[in-house]
Amino acid sequence: MAAASAPQNQLSDRVAIVTGASRGIGRAVALHLASLGARVVINYASNAALADSIAAQINSAAKSDNVRAITVQADVSNPDQVKSLFDAAESAFGAPAHILVNSAGVLDSKLPSIADMPLEEFDRTFSINARGAFLCCREAANRLKRGGGGRIVCLTTSVVASLKVGYGAYAPSKAAVETMVKILAKELKGTGITANAVAPGPVATEMFFAGKTEEAIKKAVDDCPLGRLGETGDVAPLVGFLATDAGEWVNGQVIRVNGGYV
Ligand SMILES: NC(=O)c1ccc[n+]([C@@H]2O[C@H](COP(=O)([O-])OP(=O)(O)OC[C@H]3O[C@@H](n4cnc5c(N)ncnc54)[C@H](OP(=O)(O)O)[C@@H]3O)[C@@H](O)[C@H]2O)c1
Repeated sequence: MAAASAPQNQLSDRVAIVTGASRGIGRAVALHLASLGARVVINYASNAALADSIAAQINSAAKSDNVRAITVQADVSNPDQVKSLFDAAESAFGAPAHILVNSAGVLDSKLPSIADMPLEEFDRTFSINARGAFLCCREAANRLKRGGGGRIVCLTTSVVASLKVGYGAYAPSKAAVETMVKILAKELKGTGITANAVAPGPVATEMFFAGKTEEAIKKAVDDCPLGRLGETGDVAPLVGFLATDAGEWVNGQVIRVNGGYV
């Protein structure tokens, strides 16, 4: 086993693609992986200005003139755009990526019951959350660097376990990803690539706050033994650990990171 490197250098020879990195958890993950030394591809769907500002932050903190972060617009539910995302990573950094973190995702803030759910909303949720994760994982399975250090981490959700009402499309779309990741880890035997899911509870991002009443927010806080919402900084270090060499032995797992929220 290689000698442990300084924390800021743990990913210094690695390229990471982070989907949904313009905001929220993906943004925090991109910044954290960059702080560990990785070169980062910041994917987004529509918020170019936010993505550019994160890349600028990473590039201005870099000690050399070499570019350490780029932004790439790509809809994760579109196979051609997912291919282009990986192409862009390879052409910017001159080698296959080592790490995929799939954080892009959507939740219908109206939290409709299954009886009231429009088919279009069900399809949109599955298209971005499940099909999007599949397309990114498929591309990663074919194109991430072999021989050690390859990592796939998909963001899922603790609602797969807590089964709250109103999550009748979102939770199954993420349950599909958790199942897929466990199979993927086995299929990647011999590549040195690991595949895991990180499943947060409520995290203070736009996705969580959208459409929620003060009462609903207070209930989420009360339901957590630690008496607060999660922060993006509660999630990013776990993803960072899985991405490092030290995380290699965690493979094919779903890790719920939620302060004990059920
Ligand atoms: N926040 C929570 O409480 C929570 C809890 C458990 C799990 N999660 C999961 O964690 C992940 C991140 O959630 P978040 O709270 O950070 O969400 P968020 O703040 O709403 O950010 C969503 C991100 O996904 C991107 N995105 C949306 N649709 C996309 C598409 N089709 N293609 C590419 N990118 C797309 C957005 O890009 P634009 O900015 O360009 O729109 C944005 O960067 C999601 O998978 C979510 O399901 C969140």
